[in-house]
Amino acid sequence: MGFVIAVDGPAASGKGTIAGRLAREYGLPHLDTGLLYRAVGLKVLEAGGSLDDAEAAQAAARGLDARTLSDDLRLTTGEAGEAASRVAGHPGVRAALLTLQQDFAAQAGGAVLDGRDIGTVIAPDATAKLFVTATPEVRASRRWKQLTARGDAIALEDMLADIRRRDERDAGRGAAPMVQAHDAALLDTTDLGIEAAFDAARRIVEAARARHGL
Ligand code: CDP
Repeated sequence: MGFVIAVDGPAASGKGTIAGRLAREYGLPHLDTGLLYRAVGLKVLEAGGSLDDAEAAQAAARGLDARTLSDDLRLTTGEAGEAASRVAGHPGVRAALLTLQQDFAAQAGGAVLDGRDIGTVIAPDATAKLFVTATPEVRASRRWKQLTARGDAIALEDMLADIRRRDERDAGRGAAPMVQAHDAALLDTTDLGIEAAFDAARRIVEAARARHGL
């Protein structure tokens, strides 16, 4: 495996921004794996299916074209995030998305992936692993700012309830639950702005690179 950076953590912890900045810093391709689960959730909803229907969700996951995802704004809605976290609990969905993610991680030059199970399941041999967190209150307030800035009407208390529910579901599921890998560095961004969080992340990656002699 090349130079792989695995970034995991709960919703609105800052992991996506950190992963994107690290990818630019090191000139590596970046995969936001949450988009895969979001796309599967939306496909099921658009077909009029139920998110609890494991077969339908697995079929949607098998037919996914990952190249079309990054520009699709519908994937960034709260509804898509909620749908994602529901289909992500079906082991068949996770299995159907496994090879795609592993292939991305195995690219010759290396890669950055962010999600919930990158350091534990997708790329257990990653060069550097980060688990990015922040308190639920701070994460809710960040996500609320993001969504209201683009015109979505949502109350902050509802956002917090949503974040807590999602944390519970992601950490409590049987298939690849969200958990800090034993060898991942914890990065708590509760009191950090984007620049400070990125600096801390870069230091973690540099230390890991030095350990690997890269
Ligand atoms: O940041 P936020 O949680 O809103 O969104 P995301 O990272 O796009 O993830 C959406 C949902 O997809 C999560 O709540 C997880 O249930 C699921 N997911 C997962 O199970 N495994 C991943 N590697 C990435 C996302």
